[in-house]
Amino acid sequence: MAENKDSNERPETDGAKETNDSNPSNEANVNEASEMSGSNETDGAKESSGANEARGMSESNLSNEAGEMSEAGGATRNLLLEARDLYAGYVPEVDIVRGCDVEVAEGELVSVIGPNGAGKSTLIKSLFGLVPVSGGTIFFEDTEVTRSPTHKLVEAGIGYVPQTENVFPTLTVEENLEMGAYLRPEVIQERYEELFEWFPVLAERRSQRAGTMSGGQRQLVALARALMLQPSLLLLDEPSAGLSPANVDVISDRIQLINSKGVAILMVEQNAKRALAMSDRGYVLEMGQNRFTGPGEELLNDPKVADLYLGGRARSA
Ligand SMILES: Nc1ncnc2c1ncn2[C@@H]1O[C@H](COP(=O)(O)OP(=O)(O)O)[C@@H](O)[C@H]1O
Ligand SMILES: [Mg+2]
Repeated sequence: MAENKDSNERPETDGAKETNDSNPSNEANVNEASEMSGSNETDGAKESSGANEARGMSESNLSNEAGEMSEAGGATRNLLLEARDLYAGYVPEVDIVRGCDVEVAEGELVSVIGPNGAGKSTLIKSLFGLVPVSGGTIFFEDTEVTRSPTHKLVEAGIGYVPQTENVFPTLTVEENLEMGAYLRPEVIQERYEELFEWFPVLAERRSQRAGTMSGGQRQLVALARALMLQPSLLLLDEPSAGLSPANVDVISDRIQLINSKGVAILMVEQNAKRALAMSDRGYVLEMGQNRFTGPGEELLNDPKVADLYLGGRARSA
């Protein structure tokens, strides 16, 4: 059960990530896609650190996973992130995340799906120090980071893209990216080079204010900003929410590109089918708890998961 309530006073918000963007980020603009795609850079074959090992799905009780997974398929998986029995919530005594286990290995792409209000955003935020953790442990690269402040997690190599208000609308593309490197300004110029290569449309628009860009383009700005310090793990909260189908394709393609460059990704997605199809592994969260977990494909093809979570249009806020 939850214990150690001592850090509940920690403020939820991370100043650096908050903006006053009042623009709704959910407009759909079919013409955006061509503007956004820019490059046809191919997504190199994924190297997922043995992430596709066959593992049985388990319902709720995941307590034996750690041992089974660490040497799955004969190859040692290097765990980047390992959260165990995590409890977290916005106010004392009210846990939203209730005993979650989450792990991400180096280079993995992992999705968290589940119904609206399941606690997916809260889980991601608690991993990034934005929601108080009341119980359990979080390890990142073998160091315990439970209740570490967000800036320490950024220094350690974690990037985060919030679901909404994830760009500074009055700042230009370059200035937004600069904000992502405020901890290490000396790397800014060299990071621009790589990121403008990954997101050519941003190179063309480097002096444009983010607030004047389309929803899809703003999402690229947010992704690029989170990559400024070369995180080894990127946390994404519904990166394609509110985008047109064509732009969803563009964002998915860029996420896969980022992952193919070796950045591990833990993402919450509303489009559960699409997310699982591109993921090494997935977690289905329900009422703040793990409901199912397994390889993306296995979850996708599991009749229970399909009935419960993939049947209707899985849509969360
Ligand atoms: N800032 C907040 N303060 C208090 N409760 C919140 C806050 N954000 C979300 N919640 C509550 O936490 C629960 C889970 O929300 P959330 O993590 O956003 O779910 P999901 O992302 O799966 O849709 C909901 O009951 C929601 O009302
Ligand atoms: Mg959410």
